[in-house]
Amino acid sequence: MLIGSKLYYFDSLESTNEYAKTLIKDAPEGAVILVDQQTGGRGRFGKQWYSPEGGIWMSIILRPPDPSLITIIAGVAVCRALHMNGVLPGIKWPNDIVLNGKKIGGTLTEIIDKTIILGIGVNLNIREFPDELEATASSVFLETKKHLEKKMVFDTLCKQLDDCYIMLKQNKITDLLTEWRHYTILLGQQVVIEMPDKELSGKVLDISRDGALIVMRSDGKIMRVVAGVCHLRKK
Ligand code: BTN
Repeated sequence: MLIGSKLYYFDSLESTNEYAKTLIKDAPEGAVILVDQQTGGRGRFGKQWYSPEGGIWMSIILRPPDPSLITIIAGVAVCRALHMNGVLPGIKWPNDIVLNGKKIGGTLTEIIDKTIILGIGVNLNIREFPDELEATASSVFLETKKHLEKKMVFDTLCKQLDDCYIMLKQNKITDLLTEWRHYTILLGQQVVIEMPDKELSGKVLDISRDGALIVMRSDGKIMRVVAGVCHLRKK
């Protein structure tokens, strides 16, 4: 197994993604950095990522031929690992793992030269969140009252990431996207997508072979969205 063939484990780091960057030259592909807690965990757009003990905080060093679907396979692998443990989250494009409408995990993909640092955070057994996160964030434990063994979920996740990464390298894109469509909560939903310079609203139709979201505006125009923050429109 490539993913996790080398493991760097620490009680605490500022951020596994930042630490992974210091290993880029030396660590083999598939190396995993895993910690019990992060003191400066980071989310997308430079946001803080709440990372106390009880979650899975990890980064993986990858050197794929084409980086475009890494976030997609990460979402599929996290969903597979949790579904195998009886928890049924979904994917909100591009990188959110959601359960009962709340975010229980996320991925942060960073590219440095030709190396990808894939950061994954899963709020597994966290029992409370700071006030400012409570409305939007949750954990597997809070949503299901199940306490899943962190080591077991981590091992399953590494195995599923390995499997999805092999599929990607074998160009089994159709199969991977079929699985992503199965897990996503977005198909057919009305969304608003925030981009740096504009907003787009419409209905989600599909995902493209390079991971872009396909959205139909109310005037019928079909748009391809490559990056942004996606919000489900309240009904
Ligand atoms: C997001 O949804 O905004 C992405 C969250 C990514 C969090 C993980 S936890 C492990 C890794 N190290 C970090 O500092 N961030 C990622």
